[in-house]
Amino acid sequence: MPKMVPLIGFLLVLITLQSTPLIAELTKIQHLPKKEGNLAILVIGDFGRKGTYNQSKVATQMGVVGEKLNIDYVISTGDNFYEDGLTGVDDPAFYESFSGIYTADSIKTPWYLILGNHDYRGDVLAQLNPVLREKDNRFICMRSFILNSGIVDFFMVDTPPFELDYWTNPGSSHYDWRDVAPRDTYLSNLLQELDEALKKSTATWKFVVGHHTMRSVSDHGDTPELLQLLLPVLKVNQVDAYINGHDHCLQHISSNDSKLHYITSGGGSKAWRNVLKKNEDTVRFFYDGQGFMSLEVSETKAKFVFYDAFGNVLYKWSTDKATDQLCPSF
Ligand SMILES: *[C@@H]1O[C@H](CO)[C@@H](O)[C@H](O)[C@H]1NC(C)=O
Ligand SMILES: *[C@@H]1O[C@H](CO)[C@@H](O)[C@H](O)[C@H]1NC(C)=O
Repeated sequence: MPKMVPLIGFLLVLITLQSTPLIAELTKIQHLPKKEGNLAILVIGDFGRKGTYNQSKVATQMGVVGEKLNIDYVISTGDNFYEDGLTGVDDPAFYESFSGIYTADSIKTPWYLILGNHDYRGDVLAQLNPVLREKDNRFICMRSFILNSGIVDFFMVDTPPFELDYWTNPGSSHYDWRDVAPRDTYLSNLLQELDEALKKSTATWKFVVGHHTMRSVSDHGDTPELLQLLLPVLKVNQVDAYINGHDHCLQHISSNDSKLHYITSGGGSKAWRNVLKKNEDTVRFFYDGQGFMSLEVSETKAKFVFYDAFGNVLYKWSTDKATDQLCPSF
């Protein structure tokens, strides 16, 4: 009889494997830098307001910095169209808040975008529809995907479904959960796909990008659902930084118990919330106004710079891959 036990165990494993739906793999896009081993990009978030609230000023300065750094592409941390996403693929907001605003040559590169909570208040399937690329071929928007640039992998994560309030207390807002609901299944699949993708990644640098904050001293503060569900996956996989928007500011916070950095670039338009909350981790920099970020990555260093709406450098720091040491200047 004891001899039967391994066999039964084996059969059980087979049955389990067959009845568990296979987890899909995250879509992977490859965009190698122009200069091999040296990536330069801009990161912007929370912008689509038809040029108002200094959106146009920030756009102009992105053009200037983009040219100086000869950037490869732009990443958006979401909230691409206020207040309620797009009404459909023909919504004039696509031109008024995106194509007609970011007109400088240096930022006529691909834009890799994820969705924010305000995007989920409109027609999400329209914003994800590749038809938009026929209107403006820069606009590459997806829920969750991997963006590989050789030395760095960006793991783009769809964070609005994490926030429980949007499901249980939406108030007067309507969220478009088509292809997402039920929440539990969506999140557990996403977390598993992300974990597997992080484990497979051979890139020197791993950055995770989401819309919602993990650590923030501004209006929204921390997002407890992300701290509970997403953060452990990042820590166990030695992610270098989590980059987000949602709070309309620029900030750098570093984790007290891991090498993870929390970076907010959400200054694309409306800002000046005039809120400063406490945070449990180490707050290194906070700017309450409009602006954007550049990121330059080589095999050995990652350099982050925050700019205001006039293109002034507000803050810069770099991290050394070998030592995890931070330098205030470079
Ligand atoms: C635009 O930017 C300037 C400079 O930071 C700031 O003084 C002004 O309040 C901003 N305007 C808005 C509407 O936020
Ligand atoms: C995190 O580290 C900072 C700087 O050393 C310290 O001020 C803060 O109290 C620490 N937070 C906690 C929760 O220990």
